[in-house]
Amino acid sequence: MKYYLIFIGCIVMSCSNKDATLKVSDHAEEQFIDSLLSKMTLNEKIGQTNLRGTSSRSKVLSEALKEDVRQGKVGALLNVMNVEFVDELQRIAVEESPNNIPIIFGRDIVHGFKTVFPIPLGMAASWDENVVRSSSRVAAIEARSVGINWTFAPMLDIARDSRWGRIAESPGEDPYLASVLGKAYIKGFQGDSLNGSTSIAACAKHYIGYGAAMGGRDYNTTLIPEPLLRNVYLPPFKAALDAGVATVMTSFNEINGIPASGNAYLLKEVLRDELEFDGFVVSDWDSVIEMIAHGYAADEKHAAELSAKAGLDMEMTSKAYENHLKELIEEGVITRSQLDGFVKNILRIKLRMGLFKTPYRDKNNEASFYAKSHLKAAEEAAIKSSVLLKNNGVLPLSSDMKVALMGPLANAPLDQMGTWTFDGEEEHSITPFKAFETANLNVVFEPVLTHSRDRSTEGFEKAIRVAKQSDVIVFVAGEEAILSGEAHSRAVINLPGAQEDLIKTLSKTGKPIILVIMAGRPITITNIIDDVDAVLMFWHPGTMGGPALQQVLYGEREPEGRLPVTWPKSSGQLPYFYNHKNTGRPANKQDYVAMYDIPIGAWQSSLGNDSHYLDIGYTPHFPFGYGLGYTQFKYDDLKISKDTIGFNDTLEVKVSIANLGDRPGKEIVQLYTQDVVGSITRPVKELKRFQHVTVKPGETKQMTFRISSDDLKFTNHEGTRAAETGDFNIWIGPHAASGLKETFYLKE
Ligand code: GLC
Repeated sequence: MKYYLIFIGCIVMSCSNKDATLKVSDHAEEQFIDSLLSKMTLNEKIGQTNLRGTSSRSKVLSEALKEDVRQGKVGALLNVMNVEFVDELQRIAVEESPNNIPIIFGRDIVHGFKTVFPIPLGMAASWDENVVRSSSRVAAIEARSVGINWTFAPMLDIARDSRWGRIAESPGEDPYLASVLGKAYIKGFQGDSLNGSTSIAACAKHYIGYGAAMGGRDYNTTLIPEPLLRNVYLPPFKAALDAGVATVMTSFNEINGIPASGNAYLLKEVLRDELEFDGFVVSDWDSVIEMIAHGYAADEKHAAELSAKAGLDMEMTSKAYENHLKELIEEGVITRSQLDGFVKNILRIKLRMGLFKTPYRDKNNEASFYAKSHLKAAEEAAIKSSVLLKNNGVLPLSSDMKVALMGPLANAPLDQMGTWTFDGEEEHSITPFKAFETANLNVVFEPVLTHSRDRSTEGFEKAIRVAKQSDVIVFVAGEEAILSGEAHSRAVINLPGAQEDLIKTLSKTGKPIILVIMAGRPITITNIIDDVDAVLMFWHPGTMGGPALQQVLYGEREPEGRLPVTWPKSSGQLPYFYNHKNTGRPANKQDYVAMYDIPIGAWQSSLGNDSHYLDIGYTPHFPFGYGLGYTQFKYDDLKISKDTIGFNDTLEVKVSIANLGDRPGKEIVQLYTQDVVGSITRPVKELKRFQHVTVKPGETKQMTFRISSDDLKFTNHEGTRAAETGDFNIWIGPHAASGLKETFYLKE
């Protein structure tokens, strides 16, 4: 085993990708890489750019794959889930390939490996970087034990359209919240150092603008003007780079006519030159050859040329590079130094991961699957992700109440884990039914519907009987996991099947109904909101959803989450987001006339001529940042330190928050600003800070926030990123639609 221990010994792994002046470690790093590169043949270099897909279900390790690894044709592998295969393939790479270059083993570990956490949209509802970081730390520990050392996460796509199936995987609609949580994911996955024994390389995806798919239809076209790119979609990726993310994945979509995997402006000018990313960029599944379908590449060879010219380092699953890079180089279309650049980026990350020093899976790293601390973290995350949208006082329940536990997701162990759950196991997933049973609660279980799309009304009569014999109904509704996630967009986002009819039927019994929703997106509940007494959004809560729900419903814990996305009344409103522009005719209460209130024969221009819908108005069902607890808070005494600040000043903002209830409460206090006039129009509100606080009954706490002109910067059409002088509004409150307001002026 030829090794470069001399170099490795003196390399202090540097994950900094911002240090323009190379430190000693960087010089040693680059020397090692250059030295290795000088020994590699053209075929080997092309091999490093190849992320070969495999099936996690394959029972045999193909000789052909082993031979490809032996010849140095493979740089990374996807979904090798048999530890013997991992060990054997790495052994071949390290001991038998021409330059002993280790392989990276990748997998989608998006919200947990064996211990499954709430879906990322649910994690975003926690607004809690510690919860997010602990989730990815647990995932890394569990995944590393089976040899996976690279995850295709976090997904950082801003999502403003709940029809989009992958909103389930997203950090929500706000760039600031997504940036804070994106950093936390990466710190959790990559640990304190990328070469840590339980660290796995993270992958900021999908670069970029995937969530802007028109119509919320996955893979669809996106049109993203430069200010929108810079002010909304790019910030989470910049935060990821600042956090030292090792890799970036290109998205399937085209941006303004150019698919991401062949987009030189985004991959070179923005990611490399401007943001100084020095990790490697991998394409998404077949997205290189999908440029043919996009109508951007004429054929596979042209796709390889376009991606290489754009600066894509590694190709996932398709073989355009493997089949054509050599030819393109021999023809002088692609230069050897371009290819060397890709390989250097890949080797740099392998070096930082410590693969040259410790390439093999640590067999002593006992699989800590479902460790008590892991399950506890998942349970905590489910509680902190839960969002209470309505409560007429029926919650929390008392343990002496007789509960009719109903609904298609009350005992659906696989579905409650949500999308991107390939390794979480059904037998470990604790459902509400199991948790209520374990807690010896006075519960009668009658699911009525066998799954979320069940349209049968056969069980309704019995459901009514069961309901009438109970004090309260807990109806766990929602979507099966398959109804969100990749390629699973929905045009109408209500409760599928007969769920709404069943809820309306049950409401006629007069028994209070607590609607618990397990879904991968906000679900429109306008048709049934008046039939239920409480609504709790539980997302797909993961392995520990049951125990978490039991604690929240019975008041042992309160629901602590806040909406990371606007909750629409109808999918007809979408895309809808709180940080929208004001327009020249903003809708308002005075002008709005609901459709059925319009006088018959009304004069054509007699209604309010402003931006609304005749049928559903102009407000969401629940705003971004919204969520109730089990107590009430009063905000008061908003004070700002100055009413005018300069570019180097800090504005201090204080507010007091009182707990008016009779139990301790947790609140996520949110600070929003508005730049009233700009060189381009500015959003009506933008989240700039948030803080968690716990307040005892009768207690009042004072919160302090600090912002500066840096927080007010934006990019205009000239590409200038700056804060502009002028008037600003500032709010502090419980969500985007409410808060105490002050104003200040930013001066030269
Ligand atoms: C998928 C997804 C991407 C994932 C990759 C590997 O198509 O778009 O998020 O990481 O393929 O599974």
